[in-house]
Amino acid sequence: MQGFLIDMARSAGQIAMEHFRSDRLGHGLLCKGRGDYTTYVDRAVEEAITSRIRQAFPGHRVLGEEMHGHWPSQVDGPCWIVDPIDGTTNFLRGLPGWAVSICYCDQQAQPCLAAVFDPLQQELFLAERGGGLWLGDRQLRTSGQQDLERALVSMPFPFRVTEPFAEAAAVITGLLPRIEDQRRIGSAALDLAYVAVGRLDAYWELGIHAWDTAAGELLVMAGGGLATDFHGRTEGLLGRRSVLAAATPALHATLLAEVGRLAHWLDHPLYAPRPGPAPC
Ligand code: IPD
Repeated sequence: MQGFLIDMARSAGQIAMEHFRSDRLGHGLLCKGRGDYTTYVDRAVEEAITSRIRQAFPGHRVLGEEMHGHWPSQVDGPCWIVDPIDGTTNFLRGLPGWAVSICYCDQQAQPCLAAVFDPLQQELFLAERGGGLWLGDRQLRTSGQQDLERALVSMPFPFRVTEPFAEAAAVITGLLPRIEDQRRIGSAALDLAYVAVGRLDAYWELGIHAWDTAAGELLVMAGGGLATDFHGRTEGLLGRRSVLAAATPALHATLLAEVGRLAHWLDHPLYAPRPGPAPC
């Protein structure tokens, strides 16, 4: 299963790389919402991953970002959660900071094997529940950082929906003087992979989805960190709209005290599933 996942993630990344920085990328561009795009490459990569899984495991469900309105709130049996290109805006603009994200979940829909592949850097992050975290052939862990004052934190602004801007800005500006510094990678899968291997100490984002976070959350947990939603819950992955990941439970608790103030937005209709995409 591990070899199958690694090979599939690498081939998917290869397909994306063949189109990266191509002049054709704007053709057939679809908009799912404010700053939220899908390119023909997202669709082609998801299709390649889906057909490969269907061939190898006909009984498994594939849940992909490009399924749009058909995303389920619950599944029975094994499933694969796929984001063909996480960080589509970066991909579309020829920037680094995008990755293929694939997570295999068992009979109870619990994540058990995950890969995040960054084709530009040729970095493959792999985790197995109870089996550790790997970057290529190196076994790694989180930074182990416990102190907020020394933490490098990725905290993207929740750009997709404008209503929470004032409250999100208050949380961000409240944290800025208390942390070492801030980053914004532009791909949740990579933000989580970087927390997992100790490049970042923490990451949080409002308005995120299971396809963005499923694989990365398993990487963080396998690296000894903690990843939850803004209520501090690890369950409810399929309905994820927020993520808070930190190198240690102590740092996670400190951040949750601030970031948790935004949790009420998760029940807001603004964050309910949206209809399918339309031409931009
Ligand atoms: C997301 C966006 C967004 C970033 C998220 C990503 P997607 O990727 O690029 O800018 O803040 O962390 O997951 O869903 O647009 O491919």
